Amino acid sequence: MQDTFPQQLLKLRTEKQLSQTELARRLYVSRQAVSKWENGDADPSIDKLILLARIFKVSLDYLILGIPNHNNLILQLKHVAMNFNTPVLKDVSLSIFNNERIALLGSNGAGKTTLVRIIENALTPTSGTIEWQINKKDFLNIMPQNDLLIPALKVKEQVALAARINKVHNPERINRLLERFNLKAQQNTLVAKLSGGQKRRLSLIISTLRQSKLLILDEPTVGMDLESIDYFWQFIDQVTGSIMVITHDFNQIDKFFSRVLLLKDGQIRHDISVKEIHQHNQTIEQWYRQVN
Ligand SMILES: Nc1ncnc2c1ncn2[C@@H]1O[C@H](COP(=O)(O)OP(=O)(O)O)[C@@H](O)[C@H]1O
Ligand SMILES: [Mg+2]
Repeated sequence: MQDTFPQQLLKLRTEKQLSQTELARRLYVSRQAVSKWENGDADPSIDKLILLARIFKVSLDYLILGIPNHNNLILQLKHVAMNFNTPVLKDVSLSIFNNERIALLGSNGAGKTTLVRIIENALTPTSGTIEWQINKKDFLNIMPQNDLLIPALKVKEQVALAARINKVHNPERINRLLERFNLKAQQNTLVAKLSGGQKRRLSLIISTLRQSKLLILDEPTVGMDLESIDYFWQFIDQVTGSIMVITHDFNQIDKFFSRVLLLKDGQIRHDISVKEIHQHNQTIEQWYRQVN
């Protein structure tokens, strides 16, 4: 095993805010085993390495060698601009890699939703390019800010339709999602009759039915009750692939994200790792209040 592994393990475990005991529990090993790995006194087996990479949501290369794999590029925006009556986006350049947890922050009207709509190809930018390294049609999932639901359908029909469109045949998973997001009892309710929070939960289920390489969620928790919000963040932590979330739930960003983007004056003004902000003894909220 390379010398970098013990350092990487310690670094990733600290970033994830996991104790040795917690990590050991998730790996089905003793705390002493984790301690030995971190001290370089023993090496984990390959199946534990694979599990570690999954827990930390990093590639094996990164876990073992500390090399960020830039072949893992998902998407690259170059000098994207968007004018409506006035310029909303002026010059946005941005790369998104595999297994990132990105919080896209910015004031109301900063252009966050516009940026998402450009990425999903619902809007054509005034200038600039978007280059995909994945098959966008199969691997991009979006939960838009405005729920794209069909009012005349029953909840279960809406879900069934989305499952068909996404070619997902997994009734158990769908059932579990409906249960966990508290929509089981509403299965026969018309979408039109749902509350705002219920619609949000239904949109979330629909946008995560299939696996994605990039999942973008535009203000997902708005209108949800506290219980659903808590479950939402747990759920999102289990989703594989990269995630970009537009959110104002600042306390969650500290826990669940690896990277923060701040959109201001039509540009990505800051592109910074959560770790770096924490190293300056700031929470994301404190940092945001200072820079925005
Ligand atoms: N289709 C549109 N036509 C005209 N102006 C728009 C349109 N969509 C968004 N805008 C304007 O662009 C700005 C950014 O909007 P938006 O991207 O929704 O911001 P955010 O999601 O950051 O709150 C706002 O001033 C909004 O009014
Ligand atoms: Mg918006």
